Amino acid sequence: MNQASIHRSLAKSLQKNPSSEQLLQGFERRLAANYTLLQDQFFSLYPEESHSGTYDRLTGLLRSLFKERSHELQVQDLRRLEAGNWYQSEKWVGMQLYVDRFCKDLRTLESKVTYFQRLGVNFLHLMPITTRPQGPNDGGYAVNSYTEIDPRYGSEEDLIQLTEKFRAHGICLMLDFVVNHTSEEFPWALRAKEGDPYYQSFYYTYPDRHIPDLFEESLPEVFPETAPGNFTYIPEMSRWVMTVFNQYQWDLNYTNPEVFLSMLENLVHLSNKGVDVIRFDALAFLWKKIGTSSQNLPEAHRLIALFRLCLQTVAPGVIILAEAIVAPREIIRYFGEGILEGNECEIAYHATFMACLWNSIGTKKTRLLNKSLLEMPPKPKDCTWINYIRCHDDIGLGFDNDHIAALGWDPQAHRRFLVDYFCQRLEWSPAKGVVFMHNPSTGDGRITGSTASLLGLEKAMEDGDETGIQSSIERILMLYGIILASPGIPLIYAGDELGMLNDYSYLQEPDKIDDSRWINRPVHDWDAVAKLEDPATIASRVFRGLSHLIALRKQHPVLADQDNFLVHHSGNEHLFVFERGPGTAAGILVVANFDQRPQVINTTWLLKMGYVHDGKYRNLIGGKTSQVRSGLLEVMPYEILWLGKA
Ligand code: GLC
Repeated sequence: MNQASIHRSLAKSLQKNPSSEQLLQGFERRLAANYTLLQDQFFSLYPEESHSGTYDRLTGLLRSLFKERSHELQVQDLRRLEAGNWYQSEKWVGMQLYVDRFCKDLRTLESKVTYFQRLGVNFLHLMPITTRPQGPNDGGYAVNSYTEIDPRYGSEEDLIQLTEKFRAHGICLMLDFVVNHTSEEFPWALRAKEGDPYYQSFYYTYPDRHIPDLFEESLPEVFPETAPGNFTYIPEMSRWVMTVFNQYQWDLNYTNPEVFLSMLENLVHLSNKGVDVIRFDALAFLWKKIGTSSQNLPEAHRLIALFRLCLQTVAPGVIILAEAIVAPREIIRYFGEGILEGNECEIAYHATFMACLWNSIGTKKTRLLNKSLLEMPPKPKDCTWINYIRCHDDIGLGFDNDHIAALGWDPQAHRRFLVDYFCQRLEWSPAKGVVFMHNPSTGDGRITGSTASLLGLEKAMEDGDETGIQSSIERILMLYGIILASPGIPLIYAGDELGMLNDYSYLQEPDKIDDSRWINRPVHDWDAVAKLEDPATIASRVFRGLSHLIALRKQHPVLADQDNFLVHHSGNEHLFVFERGPGTAAGILVVANFDQRPQVINTTWLLKMGYVHDGKYRNLIGGKTSQVRSGLLEVMPYEILWLGKA
């Protein structure tokens, strides 16, 4: 049973302006409602026999953490509970950005609210802003603190002020919780290096290679080119420590309940800053076990549910996003299964959808996209997706091998083709991406590059090819048009709204040169923003197209995630066709053409569904009504239609 629905009905009985006493009562009721599930999860990971008294410490901790939360946020939590699944609304449109690359610091970001409003964005994911090592720090994902703001971004007051401004303007804030690892400079790591056994047990540390070698037999490598192996020798403490990502990121040892309790405190303290959505970074890696890949383990799911049930008790308005870029059938599990259904993360990245969209660009066909979506198990109804074209990371080709094989393709050869297509190994391809983390032992590689460059804009501009430029803009708008009409929160990477190209400046920076993901984290082009009034610039063509789509999305409640999504087989392998609100008068049929030639579909079934009427159809994008010719719906190259009913 989804615990949130219980809390929702409990919240209804609380008054409009609750006193502190009533808010505390609300907390006690939530604790009581979550108690059994919480206890079961806790003892399944930390059995009472070996950890006696720890569970009582947890409940005591929850009470004191609740008292630390501000009255304003406690009231907001109740409003959120009453509002139900607020994150499923069609009104949300997200943007992801690095504060320093976007506009310098948190103060300046406050002044950009008008820019977000102009585009229609009201959900912001700020990339890590807390303290980190001076040298390489994985874009801030090596954390020295979970709550202390890095001075380069500003101060704690700046963040509080920003969140107040965001709340006043209805902007939702998402921040990262780097739950799997800390930096090697984190206070716990420093104590461990000094030889303190209590803090050494916060990480997976070993005096020799015996256990590390056993782990290595089945642990894959995340950054094989730059950080091969999963353990690093730390001379200060004469021990090996597990470092699955980079050598300076130490994996936390959650088999130790003290780690869980301390991280829970960090999580709530972060939430108490006024954060609405917490992105659980790299959560698939949370539990490690010799003989396994140490990804997606059942214990990791229980641990996540534990975090979720605790956070929900203390701060029920705050929700969790799963950053699980894993195999399609694994992703959906982060919403929770069985008794945990709906009790893990409310949101997850739809990484499969993202990867399949790029596959369709590369192959010009939509069969894998259709198959992957159609064969995806249904998600719990209270959960939703983040839909995105690309993020700050690489594009991993995480499709299901069986799906590729079922289409008659060899999975490995197919992935190689896609990497070649997007990473400048085929002279006829318009894409200008870069190979990321080529692994010679497996032949695997991933792709980096900005949306615009991967979709041919950079090459077309270099060639002075106006047709190519127009076609790339159409591809950008088609992909965004798809995710804006899909169930979930669409997330734009900052700069994509201006058609920004690859940023090669990382090649001049020693700390970044080995990490080509920086190519797709451009410094925001405010000069282009200043010229947005000029309809002829490329930036304004993209921006206008995108802001039109965003505004349109918000006008159609059928685009909220209400379990109302249906993929259609149109009979044309170049078209991606899906419907929102099937069988309703407000339904919308989305048709996108991934081919460079016009494509058609028979209109008989569209007539039956009500999208063709009196021989005409109406595209909500642009508001044009067109005549059916020869009984066919014509879709131009890279065109996207959102068909409404007559
Ligand atoms: C996540 C982040 C990525 C980072 C990794 C390790 O996958 O998105 O940027 O490198 O976690 O923290």
